[in-house]
Formats: sequence, C-alpha cells, structure tokens
Amino acid sequence: MLSFIDKAVLQLDRALQTLVPRAATSSRPSPALLLDDVELTDKERKHAAGLMRINHTGEVCAQALYAGQATTAKLAKVRQDMQHAADEEIDHLVWCEQRLYDLGSQPSILNPFFYGASFVIGAGAGLVSDKLSLGFVAATEDQVCTHLDKHMTELPKSDLKSKAVLTQMHTDEAKHRAMALQAGGYEFPQPVMAVMTHISKVMTTTTYRI
Ligand SMILES: [Fe+2]
Ligand SMILES: [Fe+2]
Repeated sequence: MLSFIDKAVLQLDRALQTLVPRAATSSRPSPALLLDDVELTDKERKHAAGLMRINHTGEVCAQALYAGQATTAKLAKVRQDMQHAADEEIDHLVWCEQRLYDLGSQPSILNPFFYGASFVIGAGAGLVSDKLSLGFVAATEDQVCTHLDKHMTELPKSDLKSKAVLTQMHTDEAKHRAMALQAGGYEFPQPVMAVMTHISKVMTTTTYRI
C-alpha cells in the first residue's frame, strides 16, 4: 500500500511529465514519422499549429482526468485497462507536442491551469462513484472524437503529418470511450453533453492562440 507521501510524489511526477516540455516519452512512434515533410505556407503552418495546440491541451486534460480518477475511483476490475488508456494518452501528448515543435510552435501557456481543473473534475467524479467517473471518461472521449473529426477536415490539405497523428488518436479515443462505457460508465444525457461542449469551447478558443 502506498503512503500518502508516495502518492503525492507520483502525482507530482505525472504532472511534471505532462507539463514540462519534452519530459514525456511515447511508447509508440508518432504516425507523422512515416510521412515525408511537405512545405506549408506561413498561414497554413500557423493554422495547423493552432489546431495541434488545442489537441495537445486536450491530451493534457486527459492525463489530468485519468490521474484524478486513479486517486479516488475504486475501478476494481478495470484499473489496468484505465492505466493502459492513460499510457496511450501519453503517446498522443508526445505526438502532438512533437508536431507543434515541427510546425515551429509550442504548447499552450494555459496548460497548468487546464491540468489543475481537469484533475479536480477527475478526482471529484471518482469520489462520487465509479459509474460517474467512467461516465466522465466516456463523455470526454466523445467530445475529443468530435474535435478530432472537425480538425481533420480543417487542417491544411497538405499537412498529412498532423492528419496522420489525429487519425491514430481518433482510433484510440473511440476505443477508450467504448471501454469506459463497457466498464459501467454512465452515459451522460444530451443536456449534460451540451454543457461539456460549452466548457470545451473555452479551451479550444483560448489555446488556438496561446
Ligand atoms: Fe488522447
Ligand atoms: Fe483517450
């Protein structure tokens, strides 16, 4: 059994891995590495970077949500599955970060704020029940899939590298959503989803720029 101090140190390590540039390493190579570099105009590069910055912050939120959940939810049967999902989120985080640097940009300066807020939500939901906690994961993954679909059509046509990253992420997120629901996650009603969409707009509009 881990002591409170052990847990706090692990949490701090995880937060730093997520928030410190180039601190995390992926277990799978980025899908972007399989493709040749294509020249983008300045305008295209800036737009692609804005979208990838949003996706990167989404992954920061995912890390925090899973970390918060792991501290409070019981997850008796699905702890390993959730850990596996969280590991895949690290891949996404690293891929988006690498792509941002390749596009000559950097992650959002607002990430520590979004990490903190998502951690509190994840831990809070886990305190209430596993059903709510897993429901939050499913609802979040659902929102992420919607964003990814949108971004894949909005990316500059020639930015196939970013598109390859988002395509693999979409496959993984859809799997995470199905897993959370199968594990007993509560399927949020439409009005709740609408509120979540509203909140996520705050994140997407701010991190596109900074
Ligand atoms: Fe992800
Ligand atoms: Fe996910």
